[in-house]
Amino acid sequence: MAGKLIGILTSGGDCPGLNAAIRAVGKAAHSRGIEVVGFLDGFRGLVENRYIRLDNARLSGILTLGGTILGTSRDKPHKMVMGSGEVMNMLPVAVDNYERLHLDALVCLGGNGTHKNAYRLAKDGLNILTLPKTIDNDVAGTDVTFGFDTAMSIATDAIDRLHTTADSHQRTMVVEIMGHEVGWLALGAGLAGGADVILIPEIPYDVERVVEPIRARSRRGKRFSIVAVAEGARPQGERVDHDDDDDAEEEAWHSHSLALVQRLEELAEIEVRFTALGHLQRGGTPTAYDRLLATRLGTRCAELIADDVGGVMVAVRGDDCVPVPLKEVAGELRTVPKDHPWIASGRAVGTSFGD
Ligand code: F6P
Repeated sequence: MAGKLIGILTSGGDCPGLNAAIRAVGKAAHSRGIEVVGFLDGFRGLVENRYIRLDNARLSGILTLGGTILGTSRDKPHKMVMGSGEVMNMLPVAVDNYERLHLDALVCLGGNGTHKNAYRLAKDGLNILTLPKTIDNDVAGTDVTFGFDTAMSIATDAIDRLHTTADSHQRTMVVEIMGHEVGWLALGAGLAGGADVILIPEIPYDVERVVEPIRARSRRGKRFSIVAVAEGARPQGERVDHDDDDDAEEEAWHSHSLALVQRLEELAEIEVRFTALGHLQRGGTPTAYDRLLATRLGTRCAELIADDVGGVMVAVRGDDCVPVPLKEVAGELRTVPKDHPWIASGRAVGTSFGD
């Protein structure tokens, strides 16, 4: 009987650690006699039947590389924009291509959007396994996602660097940190970098309460302050929309940060500078933690495929990597609980959350 053949793809925003995960799935699969192909540019590659063979030579030397050797996109098979501009449901084509290649499984590396799309394909009969990746750390069912640690380290380093220039110029620095609709990244980097104020979507802020700690610091002779603001943070009273497809809402995030800067300047009569870290947080070499996490998840994934387990996300639970049914994960957003220990620690060291 012929050995198994599996496909792998990366979808959604890229992050450091994707190549480490591709390598782990691929090498661990090969060692079990399983062949691997990689679809290019996310779900678009599956729909357009564009793939490359991932032999050991192709998987060698990619562990430390940022980005993804397969390319990625935010394309959704059920709503795919075609060359003509027309939006079409390409789920049947994706299923057809999977079947014509006689794949035994498709491994999708992605965040929340990817999990929704992967689950749609699973319901259409494909044997899907997923790995949780995203700098946002917002995938339900897992303790953590790979990519998060690297982005948190980059944002922390940025806050460290802003400290010295803020101090020299006696300024308040507002630094915008990614994270989509959740505050994990701003919270983690803000705490690690010693930000004076951390604003996250889960705790809508009152701008007056943001100004208070800045004034209090100045009364204590501290002539600068750092405000770490998640891109999804909003003032109290603003509507929060948890809809992945709402592009207009995504664009509005940036204007909230800039409006905050303006209000701070008016209210506190201080000099404020704004830095948006943007895609810097997604680029470059993964940290040791992310390489290790991606390797643990990827090798466990290959083990599950060899054992004929499917329809699952491979999740981190403590020291273990465990299969969790896709239907429990798809469409679920993992937000920061207001009573999370990281927030309690922040409050204990005097960090303001603007509430
Ligand atoms: O989901 C990862 C992420 O970097 C979010 O933090 C951010 O909101 C979004 O992707 C940016 O997306 P894009 O790369 O499409 O601009």
